[in-house]
Amino acid sequence: MVLPYKHEPFTDFSEDTNKKAFEKSLKLVNSYLGQDYPLVIGGEYITTDDKIVSVNPSNKEEVIGRVSKASRELAEKAMQTADETFKTWRKVKPEVRADILFRAAAIIRRRKHEFSALLVKEAGKPWNEADADTAEAIDFLEYYARQMLKLKDGMPVESRAGEYNRYSYIPLGVGVIISPWNFPFAIMAGTTVAAIVTGNTVLLKPASTTPVVAAKFVEVMEEAGLPKGVLNYVPGSGSEVGDYLVDHPRTRFISFTGSREVGTRIYERASKVNEGQIWLKRVIAEMGGKDTIVVDNEGDLELAAQSIVASAFGFSGQKCSACSRAVIHEDVYDSVVERVVELTKELSVNDPSDNKHFMGPVIDQGAFDKIMSYIEIGKGEGTLAAGGEGDSSKGFFIQPTVFTDVDRSARIMKEEIFGPVVAITKAKNFDEAIEIANDTEYGLTGAVITNNREHIEQAREDFHVGNLYFNRGCTGAIVGYQPFGGFNMSGTDSKAGGPDYLLLHLQAKTTSETL
Ligand code: NAD
Ligand code: ALA
Repeated sequence: MVLPYKHEPFTDFSEDTNKKAFEKSLKLVNSYLGQDYPLVIGGEYITTDDKIVSVNPSNKEEVIGRVSKASRELAEKAMQTADETFKTWRKVKPEVRADILFRAAAIIRRRKHEFSALLVKEAGKPWNEADADTAEAIDFLEYYARQMLKLKDGMPVESRAGEYNRYSYIPLGVGVIISPWNFPFAIMAGTTVAAIVTGNTVLLKPASTTPVVAAKFVEVMEEAGLPKGVLNYVPGSGSEVGDYLVDHPRTRFISFTGSREVGTRIYERASKVNEGQIWLKRVIAEMGGKDTIVVDNEGDLELAAQSIVASAFGFSGQKCSACSRAVIHEDVYDSVVERVVELTKELSVNDPSDNKHFMGPVIDQGAFDKIMSYIEIGKGEGTLAAGGEGDSSKGFFIQPTVFTDVDRSARIMKEEIFGPVVAITKAKNFDEAIEIANDTEYGLTGAVITNNREHIEQAREDFHVGNLYFNRGCTGAIVGYQPFGGFNMSGTDSKAGGPDYLLLHLQAKTTSETL
């Protein structure tokens, strides 16, 4: 019998044994830095001369690994392999597919700190953030395996006398999985295994800044017994390999998580029916956010400040769910702002390897430049109350930055910055606070800090985000507990880690037999 699903607990690093175990894992990861990783197509390891070099964002000199880069020819080979393998994989029993996920979860759990240590090195995650990323990857495996077992017999439908009707779910075909660098393990693994457990075959194109953790995951899936050709690992350039696979007539669906810019491009390209294509491609696109914490005048002000700071600066604000705007009722504005600034000034930023700093680096030079340019914009749009400085001499470090008295229509109130920058504005009353929070083209997460029951119910109806939280921060959704996905330009609201997520990878078939 399968035990009921429970999310993977987070590690308490104040326990000396956990701290020592993590330090040992960091040493292990250090011992294999700089290795080469091949493509994996149909179980064959293919090394190319052209490489993606993954570096540590805390230390640009340190190479995490060199990953072979797929050309269009290799992408085509992978597509043909996945297409051929689909013929057999789609017939493998759902129980067997689920078992592979359970086994993979067990392998990762045994190597949990190693994966998290790799995330510290490759993505610049502080220990707790890396630990949460690995826990979420395990959760996706455990949760989707169980969900598949629930769906395996389809859904009940009625039958009249003399007929037997069935309603079953069958897989779609070849899926292209395109994942981001900010949850380089959880989102990459979650989107991949959702497609696989439902009987599809996949081409995995991870983000170019974090391909090594994806290579390690592919090894785990192989060890767990996944047949060759089901999961093909094809790192490569978005514009070259990404476009090619999105346009390919044999691509049946695309599961994308990343920026609005790339997501809308994929959505548009996938809508075109190319020569030889006999279906309409399905697109799951989970994109950016401009997430807001609303603070009411009847809320816990210390909780409000703590929530804003943790949600704005956890993993340097590089979460689609991060709080990048706070809207505060005018009655409590000064007190909350003062406390947010005080808490922000206490945060330290540096290489997260020693677990002594709240924040690590941002991911690369491009991100550093973009965030610093928004900080310059912010200086003209509000009062710089904390931070504002960056240093990219060794790694890509930016101080947690707070802008106050920002106009609701300012660019830093509207555009996704994806870094440690929060803009704060004042609202006359709760109605206006919700109106400001909704004044964005995104709709991913939001939080409301209030003890007023009517305001909670008002926000539940009117605050238009996919994930709304009360009296807590707006990050940290847990698989199976807070299914995650957003409205409007935040994407297709696919609700990763939710009870209907797997259906997006399946098509329903009705059979009716006359008895
Ligand atoms: P990105 O859009 O730059 O890249 C995402 C992936 O798309 C990468 O693998 C990249 O190589 C690939 N890509 C780039 N060009 C492509 C093309 N033309 N065709 C196909 N693939 C292409 O995003 P990112 O910088 O990796 O991630 C940050 C963004 O992701 C932020 O906007 C963040 O809000 C968003 N995000 C959203 C969610 C969510 O669940 N809504 C979760 C995490 C991140
Ligand atoms: N799922 C992640 C969160 O909720 C992005 O913070």
